[in-house]
Amino acid sequence: MRLLKTALVAGALAVLSATTIASAYAQETKIGFIVKQPEEPWFQDEWKFADQAAKEKGFTLVKIGAEDGEKLMSAIDNLGAQGAQGFIVCTPDVKLGPGIVAKAAANNLKLMTVDDRLVSADGKPIEEVPHMGISATKIGEAVGQAIVDEMKARGWKAEEVGAIRVSYDQLPTAVDRVEGAISVLKANGFKAENIFDAPQAKTDTEAALNAATVVLNKNANIKKWVAFGLNDEAVLGAVRASEGVGIAADGIIGVGIGGADSAINEFKKPAATGFIGSVIISPKRHGYETALNMYEWVANNQEPEKLILTAGALAKRDDFEKVRAELGIE
Ligand code: GLA
Repeated sequence: MRLLKTALVAGALAVLSATTIASAYAQETKIGFIVKQPEEPWFQDEWKFADQAAKEKGFTLVKIGAEDGEKLMSAIDNLGAQGAQGFIVCTPDVKLGPGIVAKAAANNLKLMTVDDRLVSADGKPIEEVPHMGISATKIGEAVGQAIVDEMKARGWKAEEVGAIRVSYDQLPTAVDRVEGAISVLKANGFKAENIFDAPQAKTDTEAALNAATVVLNKNANIKKWVAFGLNDEAVLGAVRASEGVGIAADGIIGVGIGGADSAINEFKKPAATGFIGSVIISPKRHGYETALNMYEWVANNQEPEKLILTAGALAKRDDFEKVRAELGIE
């Protein structure tokens, strides 16, 4: 009897200490989430969903904004010094790839990338770093198709229309997105000489506005325009530029990529603008899922998939709430 009691107590103690250890371990798990443009709604949403994963699994999420390489490198050192075990990053510059990989290793941190995939010195993707990005070409094609459909609805002919390609060509996903759109425009009669490059210095609305204004001023003879780019901010910049030179909403068709607050606020305006749609992508998958994957890697040694490309869905002024709900991002 006494023996049984002792055994029971010992067993209970073992269970107790196992749970204590488990919860202490969960508390100690620390994961960084570094983004290149913390003020952009897309990245705010990614963080929001990553926080959700942290809450569910009981780990600490350290959110850091790193707008340039210097900030990024010190952020990684900082995570190492804080005793983090891994981080997810959307880098301000994909060419920093080898440096990021080395810095992570030096700090004994597991590394995953989101949105923008690291490239090595020869410009090829660094395939050993697990990455979650969007299916850029397909999503670009969806943008192109939405533009073409709206042109048809307005009765526009390809030869009378100019296209603004808001570009950020140092970023491969940006090139894939705009080239996807262009392939559909060309398949629908657009001529290469009617497509104008508007290179943005930064990936924000202001830089896109400046770049697109130059194109519009140079081609004042063209009265009908379409615009596309890396994200909603790029296209909103082009639409703002068209308004600035006096083109009305029925003279421009812009379709973005993202579907976060930048697009939603535009759709909520009392009068429709030239920003007619956005291919909504999922910050939930990019934030929640990457954070969860990193947690499983750190806590349970479960390696994430090397490459996941997520899809998008076109939304417009009249159906964006429904599309967002379907994607589970309300
Ligand atoms: C890039 C863009 C962001 C967003 C993500 C989505 O990082 O800069 O605006 O579109 O891709 O993956």
